[in-house]
Amino acid sequence: MTFGRTFRWLALLLLLLSLSMPAFAGHGSTDAPKKGILLVAFGTTVPEARAAFDNIEKAVRKAFPDTEIRWAYSARQVRHTIRENEGATMLSPAAALARMGDEGFTEVAVQSLHTIPGSEYSDLQRTVAAFRDMPKGTRTVTLGEALLSRPHDMEAAVQAIVSTFPTQRKADEAVVLMGHGTHHPANIYYPGLQYYLGKVDPNALVGTVEGVPTLDDIVAALKARSVHTVWLMPLMSVAGDHARNDMAGPEPDSWKSILEKAGFTVHTVLKGTGEYDAVVDIWVHHLRTAFDALDKQ
Ligand code: CO
Repeated sequence: MTFGRTFRWLALLLLLLSLSMPAFAGHGSTDAPKKGILLVAFGTTVPEARAAFDNIEKAVRKAFPDTEIRWAYSARQVRHTIRENEGATMLSPAAALARMGDEGFTEVAVQSLHTIPGSEYSDLQRTVAAFRDMPKGTRTVTLGEALLSRPHDMEAAVQAIVSTFPTQRKADEAVVLMGHGTHHPANIYYPGLQYYLGKVDPNALVGTVEGVPTLDDIVAALKARSVHTVWLMPLMSVAGDHARNDMAGPEPDSWKSILEKAGFTVHTVLKGTGEYDAVVDIWVHHLRTAFDALDKQ
């Protein structure tokens, strides 16, 4: 045997050894890829309202039957209240991603269950970016968009939202959606949604608790339409504290009380958008995009 041939045989032997024994590569070896899904909602302190989250999880499980699903709540106050009231621990997005990395998840598709890409969403974007290439943790982390996002998507979201309107509601009766509202620039999504919604259903209106349009804007729009009956529905994933108190509560400053005082007949629907499969499908679609992007990173 010449030296060259011996060298080639040795090289081949080493190659076969390294292929058959992954441990041969030593400490520097990368773990086998393991994909996971992390669903991130604002969260709610109202246990009954979590029916929306159960429904979302069911849909995600159906769409991704072979992938483990974890949850996080982005609202710190909600997590603290749950700990005090229920003694239960809900993780923040960062804590959930750290734990998943520790458990061997290398690739995680995170899905925002927020309605607009506001401050909760931009915080989540920063958290997701921080967990990319985490030493001994997550390598690839992608983020699925909020319910309302891109222009082509808005029409699908609006169709889904309109499909949730109660069947008993007549065309000359208004549906008023109560969104959260924010000081973040993304508050523009609420008037933006009104634009798309108005094309499909002229008596469907969007208002917010903390932003624009306000309830005063809604009352003016209802009067301009000579509407007498109003159906109030939350534009939030869950029918939690805002829906039960600010929207439908018995206090004089709830939307229901104010509209009744203004002479309208008011019906309330205490279901979050996460309880309707048509709306959940939009989030699942965004998650599919984020999940497929794991392989392209
Ligand atoms: Co709030």
